[in-house]
Amino acid sequence: MVPAAGDLDQLLLAIESSCDETAAAVIDRRLGVRSSVVSSQAALHAEFGGVVPEIASRAHLGNILPVLDQALREAGVTLDEISAVAVVTEPGLVGSLLVGLTAAKAICLARELPLIPVHHIEAHLYACRMSAGRDVYPAVGLVVSGGHTSLYDCRGPIEAELLGSTIDDAAGEAFDKVAQMLGLGYPGGPHIEHAARNGRPDAIDLPRPLLSEPGLDFSFSGLKTAVRYQVHGVPGSGRTPPEATPGRTADLAASFQAAVIDCLVERSRRALAELGHSRLLVGGGVAANQPLRKALDEMCREERVELHIAPPELCTDNAAMAALGWERLDAGHTAGLDVDVTPGLLRRR
Ligand code: KG4
Ligand code: ZN
Repeated sequence: MVPAAGDLDQLLLAIESSCDETAAAVIDRRLGVRSSVVSSQAALHAEFGGVVPEIASRAHLGNILPVLDQALREAGVTLDEISAVAVVTEPGLVGSLLVGLTAAKAICLARELPLIPVHHIEAHLYACRMSAGRDVYPAVGLVVSGGHTSLYDCRGPIEAELLGSTIDDAAGEAFDKVAQMLGLGYPGGPHIEHAARNGRPDAIDLPRPLLSEPGLDFSFSGLKTAVRYQVHGVPGSGRTPPEATPGRTADLAASFQAAVIDCLVERSRRALAELGHSRLLVGGGVAANQPLRKALDEMCREERVELHIAPPELCTDNAAMAALGWERLDAGHTAGLDVDVTPGLLRRR
């Protein structure tokens, strides 16, 4: 049975398993988060410096039921009080997505509940709507995570049109790879941010790929290579790179972080100017980065644009942001039990 839009007592069970976090949350109709449980697999993937899909899906299998149990327990409810189930079905790793979707289908079948597929990127942007506590559309949306770096024209919570995206690595992926080069831990973002505090952002001249080109795409692989040359030397040049002292590592971390921030901030500024929107929504794991948040804040002040960045715990992957399921439910976007996952990112929706 599809619950009525006006009933404020309803609770949504949300599930997210698109990458390496197994997450479940219980959210009410006013977008109050009654519980949000995130089980991170970071330790399992750390030795590989990135997510290993097969390890991820196997870990989701072991984690999904305990995480669901914990989310219900922390919210103080049972499945009897749940009105609908939202689950992230795209984009992501196929094996990982399937674990969450299968769990959601089983609950919906057993309890005769509506099943609501949710788009992971739209959910990252919806985290901004949740923390704002009010309407934030129309807006430019910037999603910057381990798998994605994209700009969207957000006309509503479930109406996001892709404006541009990375043509190679995602920003978070570049953070992870550069951290690995510098001998810092995984995931790389928080480690680079920490190391950068002791470094100078202008110490080492690094490129800002595509920034002088027209358009709204991003590119980070050239920047990553430039850092590699700084660390290991330019192949064939015969010159040995400077010694990897803590000071040098801090300078490289700070200079790399500054280059990524410049790319993200200036592309967002351009998208705002091109679309004429006066709000910017920023989501995804990299949006937890404090210097990025500060730089976006400064740009938005200059441009007289309202900035909405979710709090850090809603930036990295979580199920609470799948509260977007309420919007989809009210728009009639439920699915049958034959719905499948869509691992790839569709460029035009
Ligand atoms: O959104 P997310 O949790 O997962 C994906 O959808 O990809 O993003 C994870 C990414 C990782 O690459 C991680 O290094 C990055 O977000 N990240 C950060 C920070 N915290 C997480 N990057 C920069 N600074 C941070 N503080
Ligand atoms: Zn994500």
